[in-house]
Amino acid sequence: MLRRICTVLSTLTAQSRPLSAAMSTLLINQSGYAWLRELGLQEENPGVYNGKWVGGGEVRCGLWGGKLGPGAVPRRGPVRGLYDYEETVKKAKDAWKIWADIPAPKRGSIVRQIGDALREKKKVLGSLVSLEMGKIIVESVGEVQEYVDICDYAVGLSRMIGGPILPSERPGHVLMEQWNPVGLVGIITAFNFPVAVYGWNSAIAMTCGNVCLWKGAPTTSLTSIAVTKIIAKVLEDNSIPGAVCSLVCGGSDIGTAIAKDERVDLLSFTGSTEVGLEVALTVQKRFGRSLLELGGNNAIIVFEDADLELVIPSVLFSAVGTAGQRCTTVRRLFLHESIHDKVVAKLADAYAQVRIGCPWDSDTLCGPLHTPSAVESFISAVEAAKQQGGTVVCGGKVINQPGNYVEPTIVTGLPHNAPVVHVETFAPILYVLQFKKEEDVYAWNNEVKQGLSSSVFTKSLERIFRWLGPKGSDCGIVNVNIPTSGAEIGGAFGGEKHTGGGRESGSDSWKNYMRRSTCTINYSNDLPLAQGIKF
Ligand code: UN1
Repeated sequence: MLRRICTVLSTLTAQSRPLSAAMSTLLINQSGYAWLRELGLQEENPGVYNGKWVGGGEVRCGLWGGKLGPGAVPRRGPVRGLYDYEETVKKAKDAWKIWADIPAPKRGSIVRQIGDALREKKKVLGSLVSLEMGKIIVESVGEVQEYVDICDYAVGLSRMIGGPILPSERPGHVLMEQWNPVGLVGIITAFNFPVAVYGWNSAIAMTCGNVCLWKGAPTTSLTSIAVTKIIAKVLEDNSIPGAVCSLVCGGSDIGTAIAKDERVDLLSFTGSTEVGLEVALTVQKRFGRSLLELGGNNAIIVFEDADLELVIPSVLFSAVGTAGQRCTTVRRLFLHESIHDKVVAKLADAYAQVRIGCPWDSDTLCGPLHTPSAVESFISAVEAAKQQGGTVVCGGKVINQPGNYVEPTIVTGLPHNAPVVHVETFAPILYVLQFKKEEDVYAWNNEVKQGLSSSVFTKSLERIFRWLGPKGSDCGIVNVNIPTSGAEIGGAFGGEKHTGGGRESGSDSWKNYMRRSTCTINYSNDLPLAQGIKF
């Protein structure tokens, strides 16, 4: 039943149409999609939340990346120019005055309730992610789980945030660090993780005493709205101003407004390196703070002693998972020359068994790409790879059925520095490259502009520790015998170089959402100066 609907709707293209015309075909009014109402979605969904749901602009339907067409639930965009944005920022700033005064453990208990509410809606919210973004259902539910997990983490953090008391060189003085919230955290997220990335940012930011202003990707607005409805209920039940978690759906106009806005104390941006650079420069111009999670070009290195039972499923998950649309997707597979042919043959076998299709069929491993333009990028990259000397071992084609489906692709025979290998194409294309020496392959891992995730497969302790050390991987995520994707929330997530340098999620990433004050307190009756100065 679902497969039929998916297929039928996928023949339709994205478009705007009058609400009355769209009403009768709305997904939400079809029996197979009644569950959308469990998320509080309706026929028409305002796209701005600041304690109240507002947004009276143009009604848009069918923003489903061409997959599902005008059967979509319409939503209202942010409206009347930037009027709703302005109003929302003011309300968020007012809400901060209340939120910042609530003790951190109490804030943590609110975040715990958000985690509990998400637990209850995990499956249905996951289904919306599959419908709107296109990733397969287990991965969609998995990203809701990431949000649940970071809520648990944040609850613990709410009783642990603290700074050191340091020895003062002056008698009768205390030297200590105090951490305070920065204030208003703007959070701009990408289509590929429309739930989890907001979760990492907001759960930690809220616990630290900040209020949030979220703009999700325009093509995943309903997910942003559904998540915000879950949070809003918790806030409202606790008599906390809803504007603590404000939402402004919109496009680049809203993104630019957030980047320029002096009232936004920290801007966390996830997206392409190209847009991230613009955002970073705009924020820097006003000496604001940004936290960037940009592109990756991740490598797995397989030495001759690796356990192939671990390698094949790892590569499959990291290359084909989310149809190659994770920033942690493996794009470069370096195989030691002695095992190259054997591993390629095993991988080709594994790829042949990948079921491509409707994201919510339980046997599907590879769903569609998000947009028709992603299909164009896939085609161009495969063409470029062939022109640069690559051989397509499997895949390489667009699937001749509506809905942005492409074949997971393996390309061999390219040199490590072929131009196409150095570009992040957000599609399931894996470049398999050969190496002879550890020294070379560690350097090749690092030679790309991006620096997000990386893995080696080996049993050699020496190699492992060289990989982790100063001449090893230069990425933010450095793995051994596991895939490049699928990081846990407990560690700091982010990468170096053109990946932007930001760290979100676990470890001490919370520090990015706070400002540090160095405090020196004199409790004596004297005034000794530091460095022994007599003045
Ligand atoms: C992203 O692709 O932007 O490590 C985030 C992973 C996920 C998060 C990916 N936990 O693959």
